[in-house]
Amino acid sequence: MPEEIFPHIAKRLGVSEASIYSVATFYENFSLEPKGKYVIKVCDGTACHVRRSIPILERLRSDLKLSEGKKTTDDLKFTVETVSCLGACGLAPVLTVNDKVYPVMTPDKASELLKQLEEESLNA
Ligand code: FES
Repeated sequence: MPEEIFPHIAKRLGVSEASIYSVATFYENFSLEPKGKYVIKVCDGTACHVRRSIPILERLRSDLKLSEGKKTTDDLKFTVETVSCLGACGLAPVLTVNDKVYPVMTPDKASELLKQLEEESLNA
């Protein structure tokens, strides 16, 4: 949801722009930034962190030339985010792609997954 439309929504609904902003930023599925076709969420909850989720996150960011401040690729194909627990701690480290769960990940498996998604998007 681009911020430019907040005044219009606020006027239309008869509420303050601040209220619109707080709703737009509160819910995880709302975002001020456009997201990629594939939204990858790397779990960094305690169980996943202990089982080395950070090297997986770093590999994904490095493969996709992303960073903490740049979460989505310029071609809008991939977004990489972290979450605090996906509720699948027994399968740690875990990541999801558009809500499909990928258990027991490693940096190499993550790179491989990117290649598969890349191919899938070309064939789509
Ligand atoms: S800590 Fe990663 S799934 Fe719970």
